[in-house]
Amino acid sequence: MSFNHRRVVVEQGRRSGLPIVVAVHSTVLGQAIGGCRLASYPDWRDGLDDALRLSAAMTEKAALAGLPHGGGKTVIALPPGRVLSPTERRDALHDAGDVIGGLRGAYATGPDVGTGPADMVTISERTAYVFCRPAQAGGSGDSSPHTAAGVLAALRAVAAERFGSPDLSRRSFAVLGLGRVGTHVLRLLAEAGATDLIAADVDPARRAVAGKYGATWTGPDDCLTAEVDVLVPAALGGVLTRALVPRLSCSAIAGPANNQLDDPATADLLHERGIRWAPDVVVSAGGIVHATAAELHHESEAQISARIDGIGDTLAGILSAARETSATPAAAATRLAGFLTSERAASMLAAC
Ligand code: PHE
Repeated sequence: MSFNHRRVVVEQGRRSGLPIVVAVHSTVLGQAIGGCRLASYPDWRDGLDDALRLSAAMTEKAALAGLPHGGGKTVIALPPGRVLSPTERRDALHDAGDVIGGLRGAYATGPDVGTGPADMVTISERTAYVFCRPAQAGGSGDSSPHTAAGVLAALRAVAAERFGSPDLSRRSFAVLGLGRVGTHVLRLLAEAGATDLIAADVDPARRAVAGKYGATWTGPDDCLTAEVDVLVPAALGGVLTRALVPRLSCSAIAGPANNQLDDPATADLLHERGIRWAPDVVVSAGGIVHATAAELHHESEAQISARIDGIGDTLAGILSAARETSATPAAAATRLAGFLTSERAASMLAAC
């Protein structure tokens, strides 16, 4: 595989001793952005792989959302079963902050799986290049409700394309993953009047959340294969596998989980089965749209909401381009992102 990243730093945290990976995939359109993931990996190299893949996806996500940013990602890789004490956590985040600071603004971080706004304050004790600190600490706060708002806009676009109306009230959904974003998505679907809701999470304690929004609780596998209009992956990546495709009973898939496909070729299998897959890089952009608009451009919440609703228009454009060219939505999105992030497009934009 060819090396396509701008810069990848792997360092042993000075305080924590943990491997800290910061992958900067592209800065063609501007500063790279992407969250800081704190997660366990069987081997630290799996964390490196994750950072490489996720940072490349962030480049597409930022470009397709029309942001003047590239993609990056930080991974703090924990050995299996390792739980950090509050002091160790602070040390690890300070270590990540030092590595990020060493890039002198080429990359800025934010929350991701395993981290939240309070952790961004800790990172900001070492570097200024941090989004989503709580409002009282000068940031734009938790990005997850905004990511969820973008998912809703995407679900309306999918419903319009697939069922002829953006109305979600008579549609059924299976939400896999009731973490921060998934819970907001479930709430918004309930508020939109969706009739049939199914939800699952690997953590049995999330069952109460499903109940609160009137969703039927199932195991993760039953959720994935449920007979619903739209499957909404909102947990970790890699859920859409070659082996799963023949077992799916949904008409469309659209959710905020990053890197949903285990392999790019799975998009073709979904297409052959007539299942519409909305590329996750488009669906999940609400968080970075909100954070950059609020913190860098000081836009009003109304302006930002309009931008987040624009995720639906972008997705509608990609779905119709795919239909017209008999391509998969994945291929249409990759093609568009490839054009937007090319040096040629960047210089055209700079000349405008
Ligand atoms: N986890 C966010 C994402 O994947 C990362 C992020 C949010 C980065 C907000 C910067 C600002 O989109």
